[in-house]
Amino acid sequence: MTQLAEVKVEALKTQEFIAERVKEIQDAVGDGIAINALSGGVDSSVVTMIGHAALGEKLKTYFIDNGIMREGEPARIVSLFKKLGVKVEILDAQKEFFTAFKGLRDPEKKRHAVTDVFYKKVFGKLVKDSKAHFLLQGTIYTDVEETVAGIKRQHNILAQLGIDTKKQYGYTVLEPLINLRKPAVRIVGEALGLPEEIFNRPPFPGPALAARIIGEVTPERVAIVRKATTIVEEEIPVSDTGAFQCMAILHDDRVTGMRDGKRDYGLQIEVRSWNTADAVTASPTNIPFSKLEHMAERLTNEVPGVVNVVYNITKKPPSTMEVV
Ligand code: XMP
Repeated sequence: MTQLAEVKVEALKTQEFIAERVKEIQDAVGDGIAINALSGGVDSSVVTMIGHAALGEKLKTYFIDNGIMREGEPARIVSLFKKLGVKVEILDAQKEFFTAFKGLRDPEKKRHAVTDVFYKKVFGKLVKDSKAHFLLQGTIYTDVEETVAGIKRQHNILAQLGIDTKKQYGYTVLEPLINLRKPAVRIVGEALGLPEEIFNRPPFPGPALAARIIGEVTPERVAIVRKATTIVEEEIPVSDTGAFQCMAILHDDRVTGMRDGKRDYGLQIEVRSWNTADAVTASPTNIPFSKLEHMAERLTNEVPGVVNVVYNITKKPPSTMEVV
């Protein structure tokens, strides 16, 4: 297992850091080509910018539409990067992901499915077809820490788990942000010219909305949590509350509710909003009750089948921030 040194914000010499990573990428890739997947999160966006600074046209950037992203995300990210002069191609892989999710209920199996489909089926095939031997990836220090500690298997950890990507998948993974935690990644992103809506974006997990569904991940259940996510992000935006991240979670249990005077055995949405500096420990955001009430009204009126809304008041630990 690789021993890593963290580069803390206080020690970060941003321009030097960027120059060093750019050189490392250029030296590794040489005359070859590399590819990377952009999800629109802070980490993959920063990697896209570093990669393009290093390789220009020799880096092919793809947005993998896995069917579990938020509303309108693929088109939004592609157009945003177009403005930055970076061409991004969308690859529709929804069918592959939903086929892999079929029948899976266990959290780790769902995470494993995301990793497997991504690397073996979709991205692995892309790398092979493109003849790229290098894959740029936005793994950060915290991902490694939590995976090695056995808390959760982050989707983008391979080498730290002793998985040889060269042998197993046929390509080498380059991880230019692996020594940084999120605050440092944001600083690097700003220096690379990303707009604030990206470099200051609340984190969103690799397994995307699948990390917010208890039980089976189906297109129908994703549509429910996606709609709920839009409402939660509109009603308690982190820019207003000062939270690190807020989210909607779809429960597996049905609960008794009533609609139009009749019993309705319906769905339950859990809302979480987290205050934290580093995502290692966190506490729930103190949101005015009237805001929570208004959000509950919208969730029950606008998301088909939802009869109940709860707000999580647990700390991390023992909770984790995501539910899966
Ligand atoms: P947890 O749920 O572990 O989340 O308390 C801590 C932070 O990490 C994000 N997260 C992930 N990010 N891949 C990612 O890239 C993942 O598998 C993953 N799981 C959690 C989560 O959104 C939170 O900010």
